[in-house]
Amino acid sequence: MAEERTYLKPMTLFETKDLVTICAPMVRYSKLAFRSLVRKYGCDLCFTPMIISDSFIQSIRARHSDFTTSHSDRPLIVQFAASSGEDWAKAAQIVAPYCDGVDLNCGCPQRWAMAEGYGACLIHKPHLLADMVRLTRAELPQDFTVSVKIRLHKDVRRTVEMARQIEAAGASFLTVHGRTQDQRGGVPVNLEAIADIKAALTIPVVANGDIRSLDDAFRVKDITKVDGVMSAQGLLENPAMFSGATSTPLECVKEWVRTSLSLGTPFSTFHHHLIYMMEKSLCRAERRYFNGLGSTSGVLAYLSEKYTMEF
Ligand SMILES: Cc1cc2nc3c(=O)[nH]c(=O)nc-3n(C[C@H](O)[C@H](O)[C@H](O)COP(=O)(O)O)c2cc1C
Repeated sequence: MAEERTYLKPMTLFETKDLVTICAPMVRYSKLAFRSLVRKYGCDLCFTPMIISDSFIQSIRARHSDFTTSHSDRPLIVQFAASSGEDWAKAAQIVAPYCDGVDLNCGCPQRWAMAEGYGACLIHKPHLLADMVRLTRAELPQDFTVSVKIRLHKDVRRTVEMARQIEAAGASFLTVHGRTQDQRGGVPVNLEAIADIKAALTIPVVANGDIRSLDDAFRVKDITKVDGVMSAQGLLENPAMFSGATSTPLECVKEWVRTSLSLGTPFSTFHHHLIYMMEKSLCRAERRYFNGLGSTSGVLAYLSEKYTMEF
């Protein structure tokens, strides 16, 4: 039998750390190999990509392709898209032995997700959302977290009210992406709204949006008083950012190559992560060449030559 590994569970992290650093759920990207990498560089807690709960419940194939973990991949939150409490709770029970909590995506603004009743459309159904939390919470052990990731309403008072309902329904913590469903990356994050939500709740609150360095993380903490910070783009560009590195260290690139190849990562994922990590260190012509490479051996040859790396 596998040896029990000790690590801090999510609620213990919130109780003991001044600021919990979190890798965001990212479809196609926050998979096992990337989670292993960011954990080596100061990331306390990782989310899986969003998994569609109804296909996960129905198909063993979907379960195998959507969720891969390992003994050292903890603490881990599995994020689901669900449109009913029954689906979310059933999916949560399947993954519960292999993770520390489940999260509900209430932030995805994509049209297909909204049409299925997933993602950001749930912030317009606060009663359903609270019922979903209540039902899922009731099915799982107390030290297993049940959390929600939301975006803002245009009228932030509605978000504060909804956050209170989510807390009353038994959520363990809440992540707030400080933009509305219509706002994209260029729009500044509404830190004042995140601060209002934090002030209205007693459960931990996590801030998300445009956190691209450890300095950003502490600045957001100072302004909003949140308990944790979550990053997506910032970690893609620099997986070592929570360790304080201001650009991707060469050692981190090497570590990605080692980790992802040892875990059998498909070429496109292996390559895409490198494209993100190396974007700022390559000039335009180098980027064009590197981004056009089509094989693992081509990428390794390029890295060996440019950085005199050995693999
Ligand atoms: C490639 C990519 C995939 C994403 N997938 C998810 C997802 O599966 N679930 C989710 O809740 N948000 C997802 N998001 C949104 C992020 O978790 C995060 O809320 C958003 O990018 C804002 O944070 P940032 O400014 O740190 O990037 C994704 C973002 C990116 C860039």
